[in-house]
Amino acid sequence: MNFRNTLKINEKGHLEIGGADCVELAKQFGTPLYVYDEAHIRNMMRVYRETIEEEYAGRGLVLYASKAFSCEAMYAIAKSEGIGADVVSGGELYTAMQAGFPARDIYMHGNNKLPQEISYALDCGVGTIVVDAYSEADLIEAEAQRRGVIQNVLLRINPGVEAHTHAYVQTATPDSKFGFSIQDGAAEQITRYVLARKHLRLMGYHCHIGSQIFEKQSFVLAVEKCLKFMAEMRQKLNFETEELNMGGGFGVWYTDADAKIPAEGYRDYLSALIAAVKKGCADYNLRLPRILIEPGRSIVAEAGVTLYTVGAIREIPGLRKYVAIDGGMFENPRFCLYRSKYTALLANRAAEPCTERVSLAGKCCESGDLIGDDFNLPAANTGDIVAVLTTGAYNYSMASNYNRNFIPPAVLVKDGKAEYIVKPQTYEDLVRNDVLPARLK
Ligand code: LLP
Repeated sequence: MNFRNTLKINEKGHLEIGGADCVELAKQFGTPLYVYDEAHIRNMMRVYRETIEEEYAGRGLVLYASKAFSCEAMYAIAKSEGIGADVVSGGELYTAMQAGFPARDIYMHGNNKLPQEISYALDCGVGTIVVDAYSEADLIEAEAQRRGVIQNVLLRINPGVEAHTHAYVQTATPDSKFGFSIQDGAAEQITRYVLARKHLRLMGYHCHIGSQIFEKQSFVLAVEKCLKFMAEMRQKLNFETEELNMGGGFGVWYTDADAKIPAEGYRDYLSALIAAVKKGCADYNLRLPRILIEPGRSIVAEAGVTLYTVGAIREIPGLRKYVAIDGGMFENPRFCLYRSKYTALLANRAAEPCTERVSLAGKCCESGDLIGDDFNLPAANTGDIVAVLTTGAYNYSMASNYNRNFIPPAVLVKDGKAEYIVKPQTYEDLVRNDVLPARLK
């Protein structure tokens, strides 16, 4: 297997990540286990930050889209790399605050922010709120007025660009629950509305066309549509955009059907986007706005590996072999949700040739609970350690306690040493919020 980043097979034939032997990690911390390589995360953050510094004179900010993997350590890493963060709930915001993240560098998203989330965001002093509904604009205006402050906002607009990705993660098609459409005039109307609010300061626009996208052209097209709209707003409303936030969405490698982009290669996505902004501004004679991007997946996905122990093995002759592991849809629901593909290997026999095609079955009580149904592996035995690659984004963050399984702990590896960033759960944790009314005792 042709690895990138810090993954390699060591002299024992074991998989290594960030200099740590995965078999040793499984022994030390147990399985299932989410393992994150800190060097990869930092490299990716730096590539984006440096590209903006070098190609756009630093007039912008990289925001880590923390929905991809939110825990205190991630906000601490983002802070130390000099990048901001986007949050999509009161819970993510609270986590960032607990980690000492500067509120001014936080952008708050969501298509239906709750009144208590907006109020909490203002209490924290969140830098910018991205408005996605009239009701939200009203709520923010009221909360800001009550506090005697002016809140920076962006408007989420929908440029109507179809990106080639899974329908569930496309966000800028005409039929979308997100954003004010440029095409049907909704974006112009909300611009007028927000400009007339005394306690909202409209900084500009945000758009996010989808996730796991490889074609640069989709981003360029979105930029072009946004700039055309910005030019119209200046002409009609005398509103000059100060900030343009182009969202996230850059694709990552899951299997060999995906491109393998080295960390440095992500510079090209941002360069294409920056070039399109510069060109559009020149064409329309607009002032260059600050540029923001919000990569999530491309920062953490390939930094993560999930380790499992093989348990039951069931062969259905002529049909299929199920290799059951100690995880499942409760810690990685992406195959169930999106039919997402992954690459797996046996971490303790990583140099052996693959001889079988198997399904990796989870331990939940339902047939659809698979991590995938076409993994190539050496003939696995009970007790082998399975490593599923590229599990750093949207795995832990979408995990649940379904079947009252534990959400696995996460460790962060640096220079071969691993430490917890998310502790293991206990049975007590599972019943912590249960209440047994006296009459049922
Ligand atoms: N900004 C906004 C407004 C977003 O909605 C998203 C992702 C991002 C940034 C980050 O996009 P990324 O760089 O990670 O592609 N659960 C799905 C992914 C949902 C993505 C939602 N929005 C999955 O597991 O594939």
